[in-house]
Amino acid sequence: MIIQLAVMGVVIGAASMAAALYIPWLPDIGSKEGGRIDDLYLLASIICLVIFAIVASVSIYAVIKFRARPDDEEDGKPIHGHTGLEIVWTIIPAALVTVIAIFSGVALVKNEDLKADHRLIEVKAAQFAWSFTYPDLDITTGILRVVEGEQIELRMESEDVIHSFWVPEWRLKQDVVPGTVQRLIITPTRTGSFPLICTELCGLGHATMRTTAIVLSREDFDTWVAEQQQAAQAGGAAEGKQAFVNAGCGGCHVLADAGGTGQVGPDLDKVLPSLDAEFIRASIVDPNADVAAGYQPGVMPETYGDQLSTEQLDALVDYLVEATKG
Ligand code: CUA
Repeated sequence: MIIQLAVMGVVIGAASMAAALYIPWLPDIGSKEGGRIDDLYLLASIICLVIFAIVASVSIYAVIKFRARPDDEEDGKPIHGHTGLEIVWTIIPAALVTVIAIFSGVALVKNEDLKADHRLIEVKAAQFAWSFTYPDLDITTGILRVVEGEQIELRMESEDVIHSFWVPEWRLKQDVVPGTVQRLIITPTRTGSFPLICTELCGLGHATMRTTAIVLSREDFDTWVAEQQQAAQAGGAAEGKQAFVNAGCGGCHVLADAGGTGQVGPDLDKVLPSLDAEFIRASIVDPNADVAAGYQPGVMPETYGDQLSTEQLDALVDYLVEATKG
C-alpha cells in the first residue's frame, strides 16, 4: 500500500511540478526586486505542489481501494476524532505559513530599501495614457526610459480613475489610486524594450492604455537625454516631432514621418492634409468634442493640453501640418 501511494505521489508531484516550473508562464525576469518575488513564488509553489501530491495520491488511492463493491451492503465503521492526527495537520500548515511569512517579510523589506542615489520619476496615469516626468532633467515623455542597474523610484498619481502599472518583466504591479501617491521601486537588470500596460479595467480605452519601458545602458540613456534637450532648444519641427514621439501619439495613429503605426485612431497621413491648424490643435486639446466618423469618443486622452507646454503644443501643430502637407 505504501509503495502504491508513494509511486502515485511521485507521479502526480512530478507532473504538476513540470507544469508549474517548465512552462514559461511569465517572461524572463528583468528586475532585482522582481527576482525576489519570483523566489517567493517558487517557494510557495513547491510547498503547494508537495501538499497537492500527497492529498491527490491519498484521495485517488482511497477512491480505488475503499470503493463499494457489488456484494457489499454495509456502511463503514463509524470513527470519531483522532487527536494525534489533528495536532499534526494543524502544526504542519502553521509552520509552513510561518516560513512563507518570514521569507515574504525579508523580501518586502529588501524591495522597499531605497538607495540614496536612485532616480525619481513621476508617473501620471489618465484615461488612457501614461506619462513620465524626469524632474531633474525637465523631460516629460510617454515612453519610460531607464538605466540598467540604476534603481528608480516611481511616484505615481492618477488624474481620474484607478489604473494599474505593470511591466511583466519587472513582475511588481502597483495600482494607481486617485487622490493618493503610490510608490514603486525597481532596479532593472536587463536592457531591452518591454511592454508597460494598465491592468485595471479603467474605461472604454483600457486596452489601448499601453506603452513601452525601455531599459538602456547609461551611455545610451545620456545620449537620449542630450537629444531631448537639443530638440527642445532647437524648437520648431524638431520639437514638434519630439512631442509627437514622447506623448506616444504613434501608438494610436499612423504618421510615417515619425514612425507612428497605431491603428486605434485616425490615420494622420490621410486625414491631416484636409484639416487646418486650428482644428488640429482643438483635436489634441479637446479630442472628444469632434470625433472622426467611425471612431469612438472617450478613447483619446483629454490630458495632452496639460501635459504639453504651450510652446510644445504650437511646435506639435506646426510639425503635423508640415509633415503631412501634400
Ligand atoms: Cu488604465 Cu486600464
